Amino acid sequence: MPEPVSEQKTLYVVVCAAGPASEVGTLVGLAQNRGWTVQVMATPAAVSFIDVEALEKQTSRPVRSQHRAPGDPRSPKADAIIIAPATFNTINKLANGIADNYVLDVVNEAIGLGVPTVVLPFVNSAYASRAPFRESIKKLRDEDVPVLIGPGSFVPHEAGSGSSAFDAFPWQLALDQVEERL
Ligand SMILES: Cc1cc2nc3c(=O)[nH]c(=O)nc-3n(C[C@H](O)[C@H](O)[C@H](O)COP(=O)(O)O)c2cc1C
Repeated sequence: MPEPVSEQKTLYVVVCAAGPASEVGTLVGLAQNRGWTVQVMATPAAVSFIDVEALEKQTSRPVRSQHRAPGDPRSPKADAIIIAPATFNTINKLANGIADNYVLDVVNEAIGLGVPTVVLPFVNSAYASRAPFRESIKKLRDEDVPVLIGPGSFVPHEAGSGSSAFDAFPWQLALDQVEERL
């Protein structure tokens, strides 16, 4: 297991609108136990999948899903980013440089800045078999952004059986990978 994060660093946990989003507090807790300050970011679609109030209590920070209003405090700068669960939609958009919501704005720029970023998808095998998705994974890996899909990481489930795959979702693997890249 990697050493605990020595000084207080900020991890952005970016959550998309897929089943395990409701359990993202698990990743937040694991990261906090390793010494991270956690800033949760949610896609607009993910907001209804998560318990915003509970996550704000857990992190002592507002969950961000849209651009700041003038005068609102800035989020701390990210030292690392985990996108989990990452949807088919967000993976394809990120790989192609689309920034049509707040979190995509933030992550597209962060990758360009060299901020270590790890993508942990949650997609079924039908989505995973699509040629555009396979190309997106390749594009992200070519930019040094690991996409944790395949044997030993996230293995796509059959369409319609997603909820049985929640328990095995490898949150910790994303944390291990991002810490290796610091
Ligand atoms: C109940 C429900 C479960 C969903 N589960 C998934 C999923 O596991 N993986 C996925 O890629 N999309 C899933 N979707 C579809 C995404 O929510 C949809 O593509 C959405 O536009 C994604 O937005 P985002 O990528 O901005 O979070 C689900 C949708 C619903 C309503």
